[in-house]
Amino acid sequence: MATSKPRLLTGDTPTGRLHLGHYVGSLENRIALQETYDCYFIIANIHAFTTRADKPNEIRESVIDIATDFLAAGIDPNKSTIFIQSEVPALSELTYFLSMLIPYPRVMRNPTIKDEIRDKKLGDNYPFGFLLYAVGQTADILAFRPDIVPVGEDQVPHIEMTREVARKFNQLYCGVDPHTEDKDYVKKGGLFPIVEVKLGRARRLIGTSGPDENGNLLKMSKSLNNAILLSDDADMIARKVMNMYTDPKRLKATDPGTTENNPLWIFHEMFNPDQQWVQDAEERYRSGKIGDVECKKRLIEVLENLISPMRKRRAEFEKDPGQVIDILKKGTEKARNVANETLRLAKIAMKQDYF
Ligand code: TRP
Repeated sequence: MATSKPRLLTGDTPTGRLHLGHYVGSLENRIALQETYDCYFIIANIHAFTTRADKPNEIRESVIDIATDFLAAGIDPNKSTIFIQSEVPALSELTYFLSMLIPYPRVMRNPTIKDEIRDKKLGDNYPFGFLLYAVGQTADILAFRPDIVPVGEDQVPHIEMTREVARKFNQLYCGVDPHTEDKDYVKKGGLFPIVEVKLGRARRLIGTSGPDENGNLLKMSKSLNNAILLSDDADMIARKVMNMYTDPKRLKATDPGTTENNPLWIFHEMFNPDQQWVQDAEERYRSGKIGDVECKKRLIEVLENLISPMRKRRAEFEKDPGQVIDILKKGTEKARNVANETLRLAKIAMKQDYF
């Protein structure tokens, strides 16, 4: 099926269910962009093995959970392609070739790799494949030769590496002049576009818990137990919001409160469609004229309005689990064709097309 829409690729590593941070960081963008772009969404299950090779069952479950989260959130399988990384072998083949174009110290300088080693306390015990995943991500992207890659801020260093690899491949194997401007690489005969990042409206969503010992609010993360999941039921959402950290200096509802660095208000600013109410309420909060409970109840309504349509769609898919598998199978077949074609062209460019 030929399509003249520009192409988009992005995806997630299946390490659990998706939460509100994923939603504002990228998912919301993807849902909006599926009208104007030919979208490919990768579920990067090989990447999940970088830190959980001992938990294959969890990875398998998470692949299905994430696909269900996508569909529940509003990704339409008739418009967009959802696929499983390991079922597209061309991605692994391309990873091997592209790994020759990235100096090892360059991978070690990648700030996301460094942060992950620190935050996940990997020490020097991470597997070789952990470093390789950053190269793998360049292959995931370039195999689809997309125009844009919408990701959260933490993924930007990987996209920068992807751009470097694409330039190098095009220069080495397609004869493109190194002085070429990024936007002209394909026009000048390059196989790979120099892809653009598209950031979500929230660079980083904080969690429902309070600040750490340095006073910084922590980002929403399932492992920190401060996440509101897209699959949470109404009671769970209400409970999480009611327990949400606000302003500890505020002992009575009538004390003046601070709205700064206060998750309650960060969430209202992010999700409440009635920003006039938010402004007025923040004013009243700061002068002790409105209590936490009232504002939390309002936030519960706001989040329910966002999540309850997802819950309805999820229930439909959960009634018939074969449907999700079927969508993944069809999507993966389509993705395989695209990636195989890119690999074929890459091999021609590299003079490794023998038969
Ligand atoms: N590393 C990404 C994450 O953990 C997942 C991913 C794998 C990805 N391949 C990709 C994202 C290609 C965008 C493009 O979220």
